[in-house]
Amino acid sequence: MIRAHGVGVSYGPVRAVSDVSLTIAPGLTVLSGPSGSGKSTLLRVLSLVERPSVGEVFVHDRPTSGLSWAQLRSLRRKEIAIVFQNPSDNLISHLTVGENLRAAGAADLSILDRLGLGGSGTWRIGALSGGQQQRLAFGCALARGASVVVADEPTSQLDVRSADLVLETLASLPVPAVVASHDPRLVELADLCVPLVAS
Ligand SMILES: Nc1ncnc2c1ncn2[C@@H]1O[C@H](COP(=O)(O)OP(=O)(O)OP(=O)(O)O)[C@@H](O)[C@H]1O
Ligand SMILES: [Mg+2]
Repeated sequence: MIRAHGVGVSYGPVRAVSDVSLTIAPGLTVLSGPSGSGKSTLLRVLSLVERPSVGEVFVHDRPTSGLSWAQLRSLRRKEIAIVFQNPSDNLISHLTVGENLRAAGAADLSILDRLGLGGSGTWRIGALSGGQQQRLAFGCALARGASVVVADEPTSQLDVRSADLVLETLASLPVPAVVASHDPRLVELADLCVPLVAS
């Protein structure tokens, strides 16, 4: 589990994130707020891509500020799966759906049924819609064995219907997920909503 305590991020005079404390608990955590309120910055800090200017991020109750960049990277690879906004950034385009899942560590392809992608194991990635690609991306995130899934605006490039199906997938993940989004429907689905304000 990931926990932030008193986290702040400044870029020179710009205060991107101020004094955030939160625990990424089982279920869906949504970071909401207007453009520039620090959602993406906070996600980068929670996923150990960036260090906070102040405060501490704990992974399984262990502080991370004393770790080297190499240690942070290996902890991230083990514990955290990141799903990007652009569907094609999350998958290996020259592999099939099934090969993508196996490359991520899946022992079999049974998860495809749960993702609403049953029977697509031999399809090329290019044959999937953007929404199907995002659902597969969440499947690959699970196959990697991550203890937390992190996603920045995962539905922003999708039409409403595709986005709905991705939201269903997100709300039913068996591991904690933390998502930054403007999407009010996602806020409704959240177990915990963290509203950020632009400063
Ligand atoms: N690497 C950086 N260097 C300097 N300023 C940055 C950097 N990253 C973010 N910022 C600034 O920090 C603030 C928060 O940005 P951030 O991208 O986290 O907001 P956001 O809530 O994700 O916005 P959006 O909804 O538009 O994606 C903004 O003022 C932004 O300009
Ligand atoms: Mg952002």
